[in-house]
Amino acid sequence: MALPPAFLDELRARTPLPALIGRKVRLVRNGRQWKGCCPFHNEKTPSFYVYDDHFHCFGCGAHGDAISFVMRAEGASFPEAVERLAAEAGIEVPKPSREAAAREARARDLHAVLAAAEAAFRRRLRLPEGRAALDYLRRRGLTEETIARFGLGWAGEGRGALAAELKAEGIEPAQLVAAGLMKPRDPDDPRSGLVDLFFQRVIFPIRDRRGRTVSFGGRILGEGQPKYVNGPETALFRKRHSLYGLDLAREGAFRGAAVVAVEGYMDVIALHQAGFAGAVAPLGTALTEEQLEALWQLSPEPVLCFDGDAAGARAAARAAELALPRLRPGRSLRLATLPPGEDPDTLLQRQGRRGFEAVLAAARRLEDAILGLARDAKGDATPTQRAAAKEEILRLCGLIPHRALAEEWRRHALDQFYAAYRPRRAAGPARAASRAPAGPRLPPDPAAARLERARNLLAILLRHPLLLPEVVEALAALDMPEGSCARLQAALLSCAAQGGALDSALLMDQLARSGLGDAIAWVFGTPGLCEASRPEAQPGEALDGWWHFFGLLRGEAELVADCAEAKRKLVETNHPSAQQRLIRLTAALASLRAGEAGQTSMT
Ligand code: UTP
Ligand code: MN
Repeated sequence: MALPPAFLDELRARTPLPALIGRKVRLVRNGRQWKGCCPFHNEKTPSFYVYDDHFHCFGCGAHGDAISFVMRAEGASFPEAVERLAAEAGIEVPKPSREAAAREARARDLHAVLAAAEAAFRRRLRLPEGRAALDYLRRRGLTEETIARFGLGWAGEGRGALAAELKAEGIEPAQLVAAGLMKPRDPDDPRSGLVDLFFQRVIFPIRDRRGRTVSFGGRILGEGQPKYVNGPETALFRKRHSLYGLDLAREGAFRGAAVVAVEGYMDVIALHQAGFAGAVAPLGTALTEEQLEALWQLSPEPVLCFDGDAAGARAAARAAELALPRLRPGRSLRLATLPPGEDPDTLLQRQGRRGFEAVLAAARRLEDAILGLARDAKGDATPTQRAAAKEEILRLCGLIPHRALAEEWRRHALDQFYAAYRPRRAAGPARAASRAPAGPRLPPDPAAARLERARNLLAILLRHPLLLPEVVEALAALDMPEGSCARLQAALLSCAAQGGALDSALLMDQLARSGLGDAIAWVFGTPGLCEASRPEAQPGEALDGWWHFFGLLRGEAELVADCAEAKRKLVETNHPSAQQRLIRLTAALASLRAGEAGQTSMT
């Protein structure tokens, strides 16, 4: 939409910038300009200046005019921002052509039809015929406020009832077809009569980024197939472009909520109700390129949340493949994995807010997931597989078009690769060997060695869950072998987030009930675990052992970075816990450098 520059100039002139920005940012006068904390990056001392025709942040470099402010602050597109500001300034956006004007008029009509249908569905939920649906939603834990906020409704019995009701508002059946609410009984014969798409279903209005209803999803009450039906593609509803919850997530993201893509309608609703204001979901399909772009409009690093099973891992690999060619500096992803057998809705039901917080806390940056993706694709058990996995790392990073970024990621992933498969050998007698927990001789295969270390580390925690709060941050940072190890890691992180002090038997029982029985059996099923994992080990011994295996798994490069980070934290906070952490990390690094990574210390 090419707009006349004169119009844009007038629009800017008629929009007082401090007033516009002042609605989102607390501004104070500073000479002739205004000053506040930048809404585009996190800061405590204000470096964001607003002049009468532009804004500028001396902290992050954000810069622009009224139109770009609305675009950035609200995730609006250029035409949307222009339209919003023009409406406020009371001036008309010039229509480029008569056809465009006609198209817009038709769309306006369609929006009105959808709004009328939504109102009818919402009304029905409150009538006796909607009683069962309302009970169903309440049973699933939705509050009145949530039901209203998402505009949930009841479709009614069908058989043309909606058309009859909307007739009174002057809406014709043909408009209901255009809106995706009715269709010909026989798709090949437009004169076969019309039938409703939605009947006997709970209705979920699907809204566009601006909050206008563009279609509906419908869920059957209780069990049955298909569980959900979604409206067809229409002039207003393009599935590939839509995300359920996007209108609310835009607001949420602006207020600082993490942007998280999950799978289902109910997941989005439950997450918002629990305070995760940045949740969205695609509409029954895998995430598309267009949806990914929409997420990046809201956040430089949205989180994609996947099921904790093999299908979830495949979906994550697909999403990475889609995202890598579209990365650039300041634009990436994080990948989160749900505990096996849970979706966000069930997780919140069972564990509350903290359950999902733990999932988010354990989310991995895409650059840290590359090694795992390559390993999943090619295996790592034999030299040939490891060579293929390394090739795969190069291929994945090669998908990034930005040269410097691709190079950094390649180096990062290869560092992790070498840390995982070429641990440093013992150099001379191990100075700290006497402190090292006794354990079995490590097998020579590096992948197997890594697995064995992870097994020991997990065994210690499963036997001594009281250590959890102290090591949770370190545990979250570990790149664990996929499968049982990664699943247990995720489960332990969510336990930690719950905060309850568990005893070992209770913890393992709880994990077994959430489908981790096999993983626990694997941990304790083979002999040769270290002394620190014995139930009768003293807490101090268990903790020493834990950090020992942590150091081995983390690798030297990462530990050096961890220490630097911990030092900074300590200087910043001067808190005893920060000091403890630095001591632990330094010890882990020292023992790693002293050669405990080799086989000698493990006997
Ligand atoms: P799920 O089957 O995982 O359902 O489908 P759910 O979200 O957990 O739903 P509840 O909790 O049982 O109510 C995930 C998403 O896949 C799409 C929907 O968008 C759903 O939210 N879907 C699922 C369909 O489009 N059709 C179906 O028949 C099933
Ligand atoms: Mn569900």
